[in-house]
Amino acid sequence: MHIGVLTGGGDCPGLNAVLRSVVRTAEKEYGSTVVGFRNGWRGLLEDDAMVLDRPVVNGLLTRGGTVLGSARVAPQKLRDGLGRMREVLDAHGVDALLPIGGEGTLTAAAWLASEGVPVIGIPKTIDNDIHGTDLTFGFDTAVSIATDLIDRLHTTAESHQRVLLVEVMGRHAGWIALNAGLASGAHLTITPEQPFDIEEVCKLVTARFDRGHRHVIGVVSEGATPLPGTMPLRDGGLDEFGHRRFTGVAQQLGEELERRTGKEVRTTVLGHVQRGGTPTSFDRVLATRFGLHAAIAAHEGHFGQMVALHGTEIGLVPLADAVRELKTVPKSRLAETASFTG
Ligand code: F6P
Repeated sequence: MHIGVLTGGGDCPGLNAVLRSVVRTAEKEYGSTVVGFRNGWRGLLEDDAMVLDRPVVNGLLTRGGTVLGSARVAPQKLRDGLGRMREVLDAHGVDALLPIGGEGTLTAAAWLASEGVPVIGIPKTIDNDIHGTDLTFGFDTAVSIATDLIDRLHTTAESHQRVLLVEVMGRHAGWIALNAGLASGAHLTITPEQPFDIEEVCKLVTARFDRGHRHVIGVVSEGATPLPGTMPLRDGGLDEFGHRRFTGVAQQLGEELERRTGKEVRTTVLGHVQRGGTPTSFDRVLATRFGLHAAIAAHEGHFGQMVALHGTEIGLVPLADAVRELKTVPKSRLAETASFTG
């Protein structure tokens, strides 16, 4: 069998570990070969491919990023390019395509699958917002990095009796904020799922200082928004991929908070550092298992599916179901933070 792989969307720690796992399983267990398309779907549209064999993937288990490169491609360009992708896959003699990506990449994978292309999706994103899988690799690394950095902010915030707001990634889902907030003992967590009330935030901050505490740590998802009519938030419009352009919600919240409470506020935006560097051991294992099971599924002909973590086992879910909606943080999980808020 000849397997095609690509890595699409924002990169995330563990992508290289998946590539290594697919190649090792395909070559060693089945005597199959693997071709990689560079820069996500763009590599398939432009027929930009490279051989992926064991010498190429040796040593990739621990390396962040993706040796294939990654890119976002506008949804309309993908829709219009499905025919071209089929041509390129045929030209390379690809028997199974394994796209590794988040919502956008997997949606295009589902389109191809619905046209009869043999596809098996592999979910990745630090945001952990893919439906149908308990976790995506990259998430644990992002939470670990964010936690480590927030831990460091406690001491400086305390020394200066400041409010420190930390903006973490999370476009539609607050999983990183929720988990990094719980892990680092944050006093306030704001996620995209629950618009925040600036009045409530001010009350929390004032009450905490009134009780004699010397600092406040707040974790804010980049996709968080204020309750309508409570506080202005600059509108950055949409980018060419249809994503909201963020304008720095934590910074704007911090300025408003300082103005209303008189407390000194500083904001730290963690940004792409959350996606960089080596994956945690958890993500290395999850990525390796996803790659292994995707390669097995390809050889067994389970097309139109996505590998997924269910409890401790790796299973398969229909791609079309996985991309139907995003996995956001449920109210019950947000409620769990209540005892640790303030
Ligand atoms: O989708 C993963 C992610 O890291 C989001 O958390 C973030 O909003 C986005 O990618 C950033 O994308 P880019 O790397 O294109 O700035």
